[in-house]
Amino acid sequence: MTTLHTPESHQVHRPEVRFPAGFVWGSATAAFQVEGATTADGRGTSIWDTFAARPGRIVGGDTGEPATDHYRRYPEDIALMRELGLGSYRFSIAWPRVLPAGKGAVNRAGLDFYDRLIDGLLAAGIEPWPTLYHWDLPQTLEDAGGWTRRDTAQRFAEYAAVVQGAFGDRVTHWTTLNEPWCSAYLGYVAGEHAPGRTDVADGLAAAHHLLLGHGLAAQAIRAGAAGGREQRVGLVHNQGVVRPYRDTVADHAAARTADGVRNRLYTDPVLHGRYPEDVRERFSGDSDFAFLHPGDLAVIAAPLDHLGLNFYGPQWVAGAAGGVEGIDPSLVGGTPAEWAADGGVVPVRRGLARTAMGWEIDASGLYEALVRLATESPGTDLYVTENGAAFDDEVAPDGGVHDTERTAYLDAHLRAAHAAIASGVPLKGYFAWSLMDNFEWAFGYSKRFGIVHVDYDTQCRTVKDSGHWFAGVARTGVLPG
Ligand code: NOJ
Repeated sequence: MTTLHTPESHQVHRPEVRFPAGFVWGSATAAFQVEGATTADGRGTSIWDTFAARPGRIVGGDTGEPATDHYRRYPEDIALMRELGLGSYRFSIAWPRVLPAGKGAVNRAGLDFYDRLIDGLLAAGIEPWPTLYHWDLPQTLEDAGGWTRRDTAQRFAEYAAVVQGAFGDRVTHWTTLNEPWCSAYLGYVAGEHAPGRTDVADGLAAAHHLLLGHGLAAQAIRAGAAGGREQRVGLVHNQGVVRPYRDTVADHAAARTADGVRNRLYTDPVLHGRYPEDVRERFSGDSDFAFLHPGDLAVIAAPLDHLGLNFYGPQWVAGAAGGVEGIDPSLVGGTPAEWAADGGVVPVRRGLARTAMGWEIDASGLYEALVRLATESPGTDLYVTENGAAFDDEVAPDGGVHDTERTAYLDAHLRAAHAAIASGVPLKGYFAWSLMDNFEWAFGYSKRFGIVHVDYDTQCRTVKDSGHWFAGVARTGVLPG
């Protein structure tokens, strides 16, 4: 077990902190991570079904079955959210449930599930916040080239139009993409996520077509609003905070390089209507950016109604050019070959406490990321659309789950979020990741992020201590001192 040592948790007197009235409190999940029922009611195959079926890709050979059986147990889960006093639920819609082949015929039974879910949420006084793409591309589209093809962006916009047409009468806040960096980089370059490809040129093309898909989908959603309910469209970045390990020229240069591929490649087109020159230059041998057509950037950079930030922890890097002698070798990640492939970027840990994912805990990174996004996107409402931590939770003999580390993590990050508001950041809400333990992608069911524990044998849900604590914060808008 790790222990939490953020600067905040060392303070003896933590003041009570009050969030503004109207602040949105919610929790989040994603379709493939919770729904299960992967062949029910005409659902098509997604790239994650295919990827998970490949031996060695997912820890323990886990798959999207049974997940948390949310597809069937959603009424129970809505009741749980209501009990916890959560006013909003961020979930994702599975494209292959709605359009099993990615395009063409709509599967009414797939839409019906989200219809029931949205109605159930509204009846419980919970605002639905759907995300259109949380990584489960229909396999047929991948077979045709996936996100490396421009056509996929068009298909995404058509799918968005179908979903908006079905739910735009009840949904106000839409998210197009969740974390395009993960889809493009982990999926098409690192091969750690579906579809498991490992090609830099594919990754760059995928990044562009994802962002183009975002822009076209935003147009489709807004077009559907004509005369009806207000439609607000945003997307969610996992804007990483990359810090130089030492105050040296080499480490600052490495931080800028890492920031380019991790952040600016995705945020510059959306927020500033341009691709970062240094990133284009770096990959000029891999790609001529021929996928970038005239007019694309204007579509991608149409103003957002809101911008989501998923934040889990900052990263530190050193520059290989400056050498790593003098840094504790146990804190240095990767190999010289990997550093070279990454543009001379050396990942370095600070030696802080870590979550079960191995991610270092430093809530000040959330403050930094929010201030940066607010500066880069003035006037846009910001939301923390995910924040949370995995720990090795167990149900105790007394029947509870005493996850004090998660409560401390959430408390520290909410204090950082509040500090950002106090600095003028227009942060309007916070969604805890996750409502419940679920399928953590390549880690399968081995990592537990929930504020509600799930026993995968019985599907029994147990609210963790952190969930009870979060419910109190959500109800009062106050972080206790
Ligand atoms: C962000 C992703 O959106 C979510 O699907 C994932 O489970 C969390 N990070 C934790 O890794």
